[in-house]
Amino acid sequence: MNNKTGQCKDTVEAADAYVLERIRQISAGGRNKQGSLIQVLHMVQGIYGHLPLEVQQIVATELELPLSTVSGVVSFYSFFTTEPRGRHTIRVCLGTACYVRGGVSISEAIQDELNVKVGRTTADGMFTFEIARCIGACGLAPAMTIDAVVYPAVTPERLPAIFAEWYEKEKQLAEGGELI
Ligand code: FES
Repeated sequence: MNNKTGQCKDTVEAADAYVLERIRQISAGGRNKQGSLIQVLHMVQGIYGHLPLEVQQIVATELELPLSTVSGVVSFYSFFTTEPRGRHTIRVCLGTACYVRGGVSISEAIQDELNVKVGRTTADGMFTFEIARCIGACGLAPAMTIDAVVYPAVTPERLPAIFAEWYEKEKQLAEGGELI
């Protein structure tokens, strides 16, 4: 958020000068160090939240690398994202056990319920929706997680109540309640 206007920052230009300077410093710190690109990108994503092309350009300039090299690494590794993430992450498991027990129907129901595609974030910035390949809860299939909370034996019918609970927690937080 932009503290002065209350509007969301969606461009690098709108970011704080301090944040951009930190990104430049971190990137420059990796210059001429073999294998530093991934580490730099991790740190920059930790500060900026995601890695849009403009931020990749800063990293490339400071590391004295082609933009295509930086973009190639960002797109190759799933832990890097070029889009802003939601405040919470939903992961539906589509590993074998969950797949055969209805994981696909859970994924489809989430897309309908929250109007969000796989890999994208809900319009209100609440949830980023991703697919997982096994979350280590095969005996509880189909399973999904929201942040660190595991939901076993999920059914499409349970989803509205699960999401309502998270929205309620956010509301309480906004009103000064406990952190989620
Ligand atoms: S396959 Fe879904 S938890 Fe393992």
